[in-house]
Order: sequence, then C-alpha cells, then structure tokens
Amino acid sequence: MSRTPSVGANWKMNLDRAGAEALARDVCDRLGDSPGAEVAVFVPFPYLLEVGRVIRETGSAVRLGAQDLSEHDNGAFTGEVSTAMLLDCGVQTVLAGHSERRHVIGESDQLVGAKARKALDSGLDVILCVGETLEQRQAGETNAINERQIRAGLEGVSPGDMARVTIAYEPVWAIGTGMTATPGDAQNAHATIRALLASMFSSALAQETRIQYGGSVKPGNAGELMAQPDIDGGLIGGASLNADDFRAIVRACP
Ligand code: PGA
Repeated sequence: MSRTPSVGANWKMNLDRAGAEALARDVCDRLGDSPGAEVAVFVPFPYLLEVGRVIRETGSAVRLGAQDLSEHDNGAFTGEVSTAMLLDCGVQTVLAGHSERRHVIGESDQLVGAKARKALDSGLDVILCVGETLEQRQAGETNAINERQIRAGLEGVSPGDMARVTIAYEPVWAIGTGMTATPGDAQNAHATIRALLASMFSSALAQETRIQYGGSVKPGNAGELMAQPDIDGGLIGGASLNADDFRAIVRACP
C-alpha cells in the first residue's frame, strides 16, 4: 500500500506578518509545484489570509492549515476561532490536540475529540496529534496513552471521514527538545497505532491512513525516520521556520 507522505510545518506562535509572508514565499518557491509529499503550513491565525494569498500567487500545491479551532459553531466564546471563519480564510486543514494544547493549555481528550469532529463535519481535514510524556514513556505507557488519545480523538468519526484524518505521533518529550525517538522506537509506536486503527475500523482503512512522526525532526535525522515503513511524513516545528531545512525534510520523504 503506498501512502503519499504528508509533511506539516507547525509555525506555532512565531514570526511576524512580514516574516510569515517571506517564509511562506520561500517555502512555496523552494518546494515548487510538485513537492513529492503533500505539504501544509500551520500558520498563526492573524497571518492566514496573508499566507493564503502567497500560496495562490505562487501557484503552489502547499495547503493552508490552522493550528487550532473551536468546537463551537459561533457565539459567546471570546478569543475562539470557528471552522466557518477558518474556511472563510481559505484554510483546508487543521491541527487538533497538539501536545502544547493538551499539556500547556490543558485540553482534555474529550475536547480534542469534539474539535476533530467539528473540523471534519465542517469539511476540513484534520491532523490528530497524540503522544506520551517522558514520565508515561518511562512507565511503559506509550501505547496505552496513544490508544486512549486516539479512541477519544476519533470518537464518532465515520470510516468515510477517516480519509480526511492524519494521525501525528509526537512523543511530548521529543518536541522542541532536540531529543528524537529512535527510528525503531518511532516505527514500533506507528505500527501499534496502525494496528489500533485496524481494530477500530478495518485493516484496509488502517493501511490508507497516514501517520506522521513529530518531535525534533531535522534534516539530519529525517531520512532515517521517513524511511520507516509506518512513518508517512512528519509534523515539523522548529525546523519548519527555516525554508532550507524544511525543504530538506520534505525531500527526505521516500
Ligand atoms: P519540533 O516541534 O519539531 O520543534 O520538536 C514539533 C511539533 O510540535 O509539532
């Protein structure tokens, strides 16, 4: 089964307007119109329109993504951003349950599931992010945590909608720390996630679902990680802020 790899640039709360525009232009120019992998940039809300304009102007295949969404449609939710607003800005894909939202902001598994469903119901693609903390890893709980977060994150998601879901396995201890799971450890976690998807849906669906790896992916380690049979691309934080590094990671996908 060949899955087109998918690579996301998670810019987090970085850049200013001019910097976001310049980076978007650099990424779009450097990747050309057929990057080999499906590429998306996850842009801070205020810069979505600007980056969307750059993508259009350059004729790039890069997809426009947002880093979060509200599980509500509209109303008195100060500071929140709805899927209708995201769609209005040209957003095609969105992250749900990034570890910083879970562990810094305090989002629960249930809230992440509600957001994933809202994204899918609104017509957006979603990257459901899961992964264990260092403590949980040391306690041997990696697979149990991934399973808990995936079951809650995909609760009520139909097999038909799963075509628009990507899973991102991002061990929390590897995010922004310079530590990476070994390719073997990452592959084991990905294979276990794929087996879980097979048991929740079907083995055909599990074979079709992309599972990205994230956590300190850099040009120097991307090749070995992306070569693993169950790793289908990556979600890139720090290294995505440099267009050369990001391009090298995209190019490392088989
Ligand atoms: P990192 O971030 O590449 O800086 O570790 C990855 C992520 O948070 O998605």
